[in-house]
Amino acid sequence: MYTTQDEQRLYNLAKELLASDSDNKERVSELRDVINYADRRYYVQDEPVLADVEYDTLFKKLKDIEAKHPELVTPDSPTQRVGSSLITATTSSSTTTTTTKSPKNFPTVSHLVPMLSLDNTYNADDLNDWDKRCKEYAGTDNIEYCVEPKYDGASISLIYENGQLVRGATRGDGVQGEEITTNAKLIRSLPLSAAFNNDSIEQVEIRGEVVIHKDVFAKFNEQRTAEGLAPLANPRNAASGTLRMLDPQEVSKRKLSAVVYHISDYTLDEGKEAPAALTNHYDALQWLYGLGFPTPVKEMKVCKSIDEVIAFCAAFEERRDDLPFEVDGLVVKVNSFDTQDKMGMTSHHPRWAVAYKFKARQATSKLLDVDYQVGRTGAITPVAKIEPTPIGGVTVSSISLFNEDVVKEKNLRKGDTVLIERAGDVIPYIVKSLPELRDGSEEEIVFPKECPVCHDRLVRPEGEAVWRCNNISCEAQVVERIIHFASKAAMDIRNLGESNIRKFYELELLKDIPGIYKINWDAVLALEGFKEKSVNNLKEAIEKSKEQPLNRVIFGLGIRYVGETTAKTLASAVQHLKDLKDWNEEQLSALEDIGPKVASSVVQFFKNEDNLHMLDELEQAGLSLENKHFGNKQSGGVLEGKTFLFTGTLTKFKRSDAEAMVEQRGGKKLSGVSSKLNYLVVGTDAGSKLEKAKKLGTVTILNEDEFLEMLQ
Ligand code: IVH
Repeated sequence: MYTTQDEQRLYNLAKELLASDSDNKERVSELRDVINYADRRYYVQDEPVLADVEYDTLFKKLKDIEAKHPELVTPDSPTQRVGSSLITATTSSSTTTTTTKSPKNFPTVSHLVPMLSLDNTYNADDLNDWDKRCKEYAGTDNIEYCVEPKYDGASISLIYENGQLVRGATRGDGVQGEEITTNAKLIRSLPLSAAFNNDSIEQVEIRGEVVIHKDVFAKFNEQRTAEGLAPLANPRNAASGTLRMLDPQEVSKRKLSAVVYHISDYTLDEGKEAPAALTNHYDALQWLYGLGFPTPVKEMKVCKSIDEVIAFCAAFEERRDDLPFEVDGLVVKVNSFDTQDKMGMTSHHPRWAVAYKFKARQATSKLLDVDYQVGRTGAITPVAKIEPTPIGGVTVSSISLFNEDVVKEKNLRKGDTVLIERAGDVIPYIVKSLPELRDGSEEEIVFPKECPVCHDRLVRPEGEAVWRCNNISCEAQVVERIIHFASKAAMDIRNLGESNIRKFYELELLKDIPGIYKINWDAVLALEGFKEKSVNNLKEAIEKSKEQPLNRVIFGLGIRYVGETTAKTLASAVQHLKDLKDWNEEQLSALEDIGPKVASSVVQFFKNEDNLHMLDELEQAGLSLENKHFGNKQSGGVLEGKTFLFTGTLTKFKRSDAEAMVEQRGGKKLSGVSSKLNYLVVGTDAGSKLEKAKKLGTVTILNEDEFLEMLQ
């Protein structure tokens, strides 16, 4: 555990190392300390202390020194996380003895203690029954329980010897698993070494779960689909698949995380006693956290009775989606290790622990039909229509099948019984079909050759998984483009949602994006369900959207591959949006994060006369296509060198405008609370960021008025 003094020392050391440009080999251990510290802040505590670029610079310095002086490389150096090949992965440990090779070439290894499973409970009655059994086995009515999340990932066993991570293994059959040490070392939240020696522990076997952050998973899949690849099914499959991949580069890209929740075995130095923390589960996990391990310290709770456990389970289930990782339940454990030992285990599960499973988010249904939807860029997405089925509190009746390859891979037929899953905020998907239940009446799914809306011939560009309708006047695309323009992330026109847009389009009250600003309101008022008040609200929202900054307009135009970030880059590069018509691919590629694919798409967009005409129309309607701040990004501005973060609901200004104001005055916005943050501007309902900033004590907290004053 780092004390406040350590924190300050390491932070200052990081700054000093960043400032020094000598590749001094004497600094090797300082660099390692600082990188390990930054890793812990980032991966275990979720409170980054260095900017990415600073971290990368330090990492590179260390790598350079080690390249020049290979004799200085130690197995626990942060650079040693990145291996070259799994098959050659070896360690000096006695515990890595290879017996056989699994089909994928991972050595098979035996767990020190079998990895048992957990018995399941589903409701309060089950928990009460389990509590009774516990009391019988424990021989006492006085049992304290510890409750923590049940992570939905891939289980892992880790062995540390003399403080060094020497082996990582998958669960396998519970007795033997696959040795995946190299991949385990790529999990940044797991320390490569820990000070077990301070507590006289020679060897320890720790259990945990390898997981993927839901947002990392979502981004990863977004990228896959953009590249025309089928998305991975869910974070759990992604984690377990990644753990067994042979290419460390790919493993690294997938950004695995881990949580550890159990010490299955330890050996002490001769004649030494176990640390006091190792008398109960709660203290043991706190102790591991102190040693640098990611444990559920924030989520776990000690309960004095099963009633308290039941209440906690019910409350936790309500907020299961708030956690960054997928959880499928909670695990209730008898807290005292002595009582655990007394209770023992069956061949399948320990008697002292039980899983409380949340409501199932898997169900079977029938695949009735497949629809083909046309997106705003012409991509055709097959969508499965299934018998409406409730899963995890919502009724699902259609599920995206992404592309033709997914349909083929899953060997789906109309009429099939299918297993569906909805994992948290991950969209529902079809896990598989159950061909054993076919009766012969099922029909093959044939991908259409022409656009279901405009009937143009579909094309599937080579190397892509997506079929496309290339007719940009295709009605389906036009409507989707209007929907996108008005959406929250783009022009944020409240009340002009999908259903109103479709209705107005069908009634020919709206035919294209500029048409939003020319709607015939008398005609709308004559429609059923449109009262004066709602129409006025809608009018007002449309009027207000004219003030949106240029980056939102650009994003709203729906230029292929131009997401919100690229839109900001483009907006700040020009004085007027139409200036972009004179930019070539080379100039565009010189901008941050713009690659050849995006550049070519932007050039295509601005070459098209219809698009330029649309921009003129928008300008005539009163939208500003100018970058009002162009060229006046001053250095020496009043906020030069100052960092800001906004949190809570802001009522006096829009967050994006406030951020722009900061940047215009030479300040910088940060994405998280860290010691690098100077000012936290809080609106109403500010939550964890405010707490963190208060705890840190180095951040100045401003309300909206104080912030505005500061700008003057
Ligand atoms: S304790 C003897 N705690 O759930 C200790 N398991 O369905 C047994 N799991 O195989 C495990 N979160 O992979 C434990 N907080 C947690 C867990 C957890 C997820 C997994 C683990 C286990 C499976 C059983």
